Amino acid sequence: MTDTSKDITILGIESSCDETAAAVVVNGRKVLSNVISSQIDIHTVYGGVVPEIASRLHCENINGVIRLAMKEAGTGWDGIDAIAVTRGPGLVGALLVGVSEAKALAYALHKPLIGVHHIEGHIAANYISHPALEPPYVCLVVSGGHTHLAVVRGYREFELAGRTMDDAAGETFDKVARAVGLGYPGGPKVDRAAREGDPHAIEFPRGEVKDHPYDFTFSGLKSAVLNYINMAQMKGEEINVSDLAASFQRSVTDSLVSRTIRCAENYGIRKVAIAGGVSANSALREAMKAACEERGMECFYPEPVYCTDNAAMIASAAYYEYLAGRRDSMFLNAEPNLKLGDR
Ligand code: KG4
Ligand code: ZN
Repeated sequence: MTDTSKDITILGIESSCDETAAAVVVNGRKVLSNVISSQIDIHTVYGGVVPEIASRLHCENINGVIRLAMKEAGTGWDGIDAIAVTRGPGLVGALLVGVSEAKALAYALHKPLIGVHHIEGHIAANYISHPALEPPYVCLVVSGGHTHLAVVRGYREFELAGRTMDDAAGETFDKVARAVGLGYPGGPKVDRAAREGDPHAIEFPRGEVKDHPYDFTFSGLKSAVLNYINMAQMKGEEINVSDLAASFQRSVTDSLVSRTIRCAENYGIRKVAIAGGVSANSALREAMKAACEERGMECFYPEPVYCTDNAAMIASAAYYEYLAGRRDSMFLNAEPNLKLGDR
């Protein structure tokens, strides 16, 4: 049994996609430092993340990012109780950089090594922004690669109630943004354009998955948006990008919020959280908050910096792994297809 009377300080490392990040977090909730080196400017040139470039940039940046996170935290290496790292899911070459770095540090410094699930990290971001939050709650995880509806029964206990049947929510944002010429990364750009638009200007479909009340589908919506753009171009009509963005966002948000609330109601859970890059979306945050308020439920979302990829969330999730006694060996490997709840 791990002694919980003592503060546990963890260095977290994240390199699963296009952010090289390191953070120092105490007891899973108090952030001493949170350093993120984004590669977005470079990948933007190619219109999306190029895995080979991502791996190379992680190699170049990871030592400097960790050094800065340690300097800002001011704990010194003696003050670090464990080294945590994202082990999956993600791009294998990108993950391997963080995993190798964490193994080298743990070995050289004689510290415990803890491999963390990236999605569990996104969920844990809520513990940083809401220090009093405890399971059980329902969490909608919406990122570039994942759309999961998870019933969080305990800090390490997840039931996957629903998921996307096709594209992830963030991927849909990115594809629509590209189609209307807003560029990459699409989510924040659609969010910004939508603020000037009318969400009722265009009626886009809301995908339902028959007999699966908590699952999502975005392919019909994506096709409807692309058809709308093609039709307008064929007729020589100009597209109002703000109206399109706002209407598209309303459709996505309606689908996400309705399933999440349905899940919480049916499971008899009064707390709802959102996590992942798309949880930074202002319309989604507002809509989820309003739907929860209407039903007297509590609604939680992380501060924007903890919604998109960061290492503080990895150090937070690792704290609960540490308490449960998880210690990884030098055989820890990158797991690009890790499923939620896999240990
Ligand atoms: O969680 P994340 O940083 O990386 C993954 O684990 O995938 O999520 C990135 C995704 C991208 O698809 C990006 O377009 C989306 O999150 N995103 C947003 C917003 N900010 C980031 N989507 C909608 N609105 C936003 N404000
Ligand atoms: Zn992520």
